[in-house]
Amino acid sequence: MSSRFMDWVDERFPATQLWREHLSEYYAPKNFNFWYYFGSLAMLVLANQLITGIWLAMFYKPSAAEAFGSVAYIMRDVEWGWLLRYMHSTGASAFFIVVYLHMMRALLYGSYRKPRELIWIFGCLIFLVLMAEAFMGYVLPWGQMSYWGAQVIISLFSAIPVVGEGLATWIKGDYVIGDATLNRFFALHVVALPFVLVGLVIAHIMALHHVGSNNPDGVEIKKVKDADGNPADGIPFHPYYTVKDLFGVGVFLILFCGVIFFAPEGGGYFLEPPNFQEANPSVTPAHIAPVWYFTPFYAILRAITVDFLWVPAKLWGVILMFAAVLILFFMPWLDRSPVKSIRYKGWMFKVPVAAFVISFLLLGYLGTQPPGGWRMPAAQIGTAVYFLFFLLMPIYSKLDKTKPVPERVSE
Ligand code: HEM
Repeated sequence: MSSRFMDWVDERFPATQLWREHLSEYYAPKNFNFWYYFGSLAMLVLANQLITGIWLAMFYKPSAAEAFGSVAYIMRDVEWGWLLRYMHSTGASAFFIVVYLHMMRALLYGSYRKPRELIWIFGCLIFLVLMAEAFMGYVLPWGQMSYWGAQVIISLFSAIPVVGEGLATWIKGDYVIGDATLNRFFALHVVALPFVLVGLVIAHIMALHHVGSNNPDGVEIKKVKDADGNPADGIPFHPYYTVKDLFGVGVFLILFCGVIFFAPEGGGYFLEPPNFQEANPSVTPAHIAPVWYFTPFYAILRAITVDFLWVPAKLWGVILMFAAVLILFFMPWLDRSPVKSIRYKGWMFKVPVAAFVISFLLLGYLGTQPPGGWRMPAAQIGTAVYFLFFLLMPIYSKLDKTKPVPERVSE
């Protein structure tokens, strides 16, 4: 009965063929480790954001007069509304935790290197769109931090010479941040950017399945085939990795539920205290800081304090903040090492990676704090280390003494 049904479907839609190509006969390296959980977890969190977002949109009102009240209504009166809202707001932070770890894996194992440049570039585009999506989402509850965060970020555009002021007004849709701004951010957050995100994720996975996954050894498993013509060091994605990923989903959900039920505001890091007060254009919060996942870039923005080469300090900050994200796109061509995985790289590569990770975490911390005192030089050093990691990579990755890479995966 079921096979007759599938024959009927297959004549009209390649269901079995897709199942085979992408799951039961898609060969993945047999040595995936902890770091390989985060791709499937990112897909899970994306689904969570889309589903809870649709339900929130059923009760949320995108107008400056009603937005804050409608969120309070969702939290207090809508049945299970508090759960939907916390799943979505905590989900945003979970998304960035998962995606940062996913990117870290690519950095460790050289997953951005040939032939996976486009997987990486689609990933960088996802990261860029995800930041825009999170920024606009944070404006929607129309709290104090929504309003003043938007104020700080949109005013950055006015630092651009000649067109800056016009551009900032165009983004706001008014001379001040108000109803028009909230309305367009709602449209972009709920309709436009989710479409772009889902499209990019599909492209990301298609590119991955076209070239095949990298692995912790950085060995190409397609090079050595077994008697059946399958990669000798590969195993079918289903059932082996579906089961592994399901285990990851279980652990993730335990942690995720723990935060949702016991610390949904994440100690003021996932939902900031000023955002429990309604937006008020005439009262500026004492300390404006973005949500934690933006703080490394925010610290870079604030790190430049002097005008330099006829460019004002504020504009330098804006340029460096955008450059900090854009430079990621060039990774595949900056790394000149003959090996992919960190396992076979020498200290000359490992030390810069460690310095980069420490500087990124330091910048993340500094971005949450008011500037001043030791924090300013620390942010400047952190910014210098961040950029030198990328800019000097063609040199140190070439000088580095690497170890020989085995023919087959080592586990
Ligand atoms: C919505 C966000 C994302 C989703 C759903 C997603 C999904 C996935 C999945 C399912 C895989 C295969 C499983 C795995 O290797 O873990 C993967 C691989 C990969 N992703 Fe992503 N990804 C996302 C964001 C990113 C970002 C932001 C980057 C980098 C800037 C990135 C870079 C990569 C690379 C280089 C690989 C290949 C890894 C390898 O073969 O070793 N991804 N992604």
